[in-house]
Amino acid sequence: MAPHLALLLLLLSAPAAPLLVSAAIGACSSEKFPAGRTFQHCEDLPKLGASIHWTHDASTNTLSVAFVAAPASPGGWVAWGLNPTAEGMTGTQALVALKGGASGGAPAVKTYNITGYVPLGAASTPIAFPATDLAADAAGAGGRMRVYGKLQLHKGMRVVNQVWQVGSSVTGGAPDKHAFAADNLAAKSKLVLAGKAAASGGAPTPAAAPVAGGPAAGSSGNESGAAASPAAGKSPSAAVASAGVSAPAVIVMALVGFLATVW
Ligand SMILES: *[C@@H]1O[C@H](CO)[C@@H](O)[C@H](O)[C@H]1NC(C)=O
Ligand SMILES: *[C@@H]1O[C@H](CO)[C@@H](O)[C@H](O)[C@H]1NC(C)=O
Repeated sequence: MAPHLALLLLLLSAPAAPLLVSAAIGACSSEKFPAGRTFQHCEDLPKLGASIHWTHDASTNTLSVAFVAAPASPGGWVAWGLNPTAEGMTGTQALVALKGGASGGAPAVKTYNITGYVPLGAASTPIAFPATDLAADAAGAGGRMRVYGKLQLHKGMRVVNQVWQVGSSVTGGAPDKHAFAADNLAAKSKLVLAGKAAASGGAPTPAAAPVAGGPAAGSSGNESGAAASPAAGKSPSAAVASAGVSAPAVIVMALVGFLATVW
């Protein structure tokens, strides 16, 4: 009797896993933005509880983004940026949302060319991707902040290094140093501008279809960064990982496996 029950639970948990995975993938898609702010793609980032939402227009090389995260403390800041030269923080072209002054107004948005581990000032510095439509708002529960912007990218950018961060305090309009815990230091990944799955049907702008006889967007090679380590499918979770499921989803898979074992 008991062995049968255990087997039944295992069988039940197996089909449940894909459902949990899609729930994890869909977490960012439940974000409710103000009217007029919609994005074709979103991704739950693997660290610091953050997500990135974006629309890439390959015909104009523009990238509209919304980055969502909670500051490390209520009076802190959140930041996201692209690093065209390296994978880490140094070189990142960042958008930063900072909690308003003591009056608690809307978050301020600044841009910073991060040149190293040096204190940032209160004034924005020019970034390599001219940014327009900068804005930020508070996203209700959990004290999350959202920073919006439209970046003018360089021609041909398809897979880019992204870096994000959260800090706990703001002094004189400048973001104070963030913590250096493992998650803070690991808050970086590759952003595939065309999205995880090629956004085929329902493209909102038919005009953006075939660009000057060029190859279809996303099929023009040089996406080596995206094609990371196809894990030889030993276990179900490895198979899922090689199918391009994001890290949080794999963590959920691992949790499901753990629960199945416990049961
Ligand atoms: C950012 O800073 C680096 C290092 O000082 C500099 O070489 C680069 O030109 C700066 N970028 C912009 C857009 O100002
Ligand atoms: C791919 O990237 C490499 C190195 O960054 C570059 O030399 C090469 O020209 C690129 N190829 C294409 C098709 O863009």
